[in-house]
Amino acid sequence: MIQWPSTVRPHSSTVVAKVRVGSRFAGGLVRARLRGRPVILSHLITGRCNADCPTCLWRDDATRELDTDTVAWLYRQAADLGIPQLVVWGGEPLLRSDLPALLAVAREAGLVVTLITNGWSLGERWPELRGHVDVLILSLDDTGEAHDRLRGLPGLFRRLEAFTASVRDDPARPKLLVNTVLSRLNRGALRRVAPVAERWGAGLYFCPMETGRMETSGFAGPLASLSLEPRGLRDAARLAKVLKGVGYPLMATDRYLDLLEKDPALTAYTCRAPRAILTVEADGAVRDCLRRDVPLARVDQLRAAGGRMADVLAIPRYQQMVKSAERCTACNNPDVLEISWLWDLERQMLEKVGRLVAT
Ligand SMILES: C[S@@+](CC[C@H](N)C(=O)[O-])C[C@H]1O[C@@H](n2cnc3c(N)ncnc32)[C@H](O)[C@@H]1O
Ligand code: SF4
Repeated sequence: MIQWPSTVRPHSSTVVAKVRVGSRFAGGLVRARLRGRPVILSHLITGRCNADCPTCLWRDDATRELDTDTVAWLYRQAADLGIPQLVVWGGEPLLRSDLPALLAVAREAGLVVTLITNGWSLGERWPELRGHVDVLILSLDDTGEAHDRLRGLPGLFRRLEAFTASVRDDPARPKLLVNTVLSRLNRGALRRVAPVAERWGAGLYFCPMETGRMETSGFAGPLASLSLEPRGLRDAARLAKVLKGVGYPLMATDRYLDLLEKDPALTAYTCRAPRAILTVEADGAVRDCLRRDVPLARVDQLRAAGGRMADVLAIPRYQQMVKSAERCTACNNPDVLEISWLWDLERQMLEKVGRLVAT
């Protein structure tokens, strides 16, 4: 049964700071878009993780990772390139002891910082991170022990509850979002997590799980057996619409939800994601999203050779990738579709950015 939300009221002490961050992001976004530059640097800061999620395609404890100076160089280069936003994920970013210093570098360089975390260590690490994060995305695939089981971390949900309560009235509280990955392992989860997101004062983002990646030889999908079948995705889209309709803070646009309900394979979009998002893997590989096995460049080598991140955008293969991606519909998550619509300056996305700036 759906519980009805109470009115979501932003904490007044944080409203001014949030509007300032939103305006900074919107201004940077417009400038980057007009110059045809990426609007997001997506950085997998580590492959290491303390959890054990069966859906995860990115955890890799063996990957060598970039050193502190190279990551700081990367963030300053991104800002020089006019990229307005940094998204830090992994692996579990809180496992990097230099994370607060690196996020401080990013903020000083002018980037709006988003951090995605499973949240296990937030209680301990927040004093160092506080003030360096604009948007905090907490992963939440279910509630209570069901979430703990999905992550292989007993006590995780309790920790998330304690953390969100502890920052509730903090004037330096970042914008909070919850991210729920939909798979066969958590059918109907949106109904359970929506009241939690609402109680935490967080927006609720969800994505149908990715099952693999594009490689030179074609799509490799090792996790296909865990993904929801078309009927499950349609049910999720309908449920999301109902929850959004009664006031839960779902972030997905109606356009995305309509499309997911009509065509769960999501084949009707033109992908601009690699134009809009520059992705750097934990080992410094700059991702070619259509050939993930062959990086476009390596950040550490570029730095050692006296190059700049701007050089990557001039590589012929980069240009090829952004063109070829326009004919690819392998991805089905809202961030890929919605960033593509934003790149094309479509109305629903401009309205969504406007709402994000205002709240
Ligand atoms: C790979 S994790 C890295 C950050 C951090 N360790 C965490 O879990 O939040 C980033 C996000 O991807 C989500 N995720 C995990 N498996 C996924 C999949 N197969 N498809 C899409 N998202 C997935 C996670 O739940 C998380 O919200
Ligand atoms: S917590 Fe994040 S990085 Fe770790 S296994 Fe889960 S999804 Fe992957």
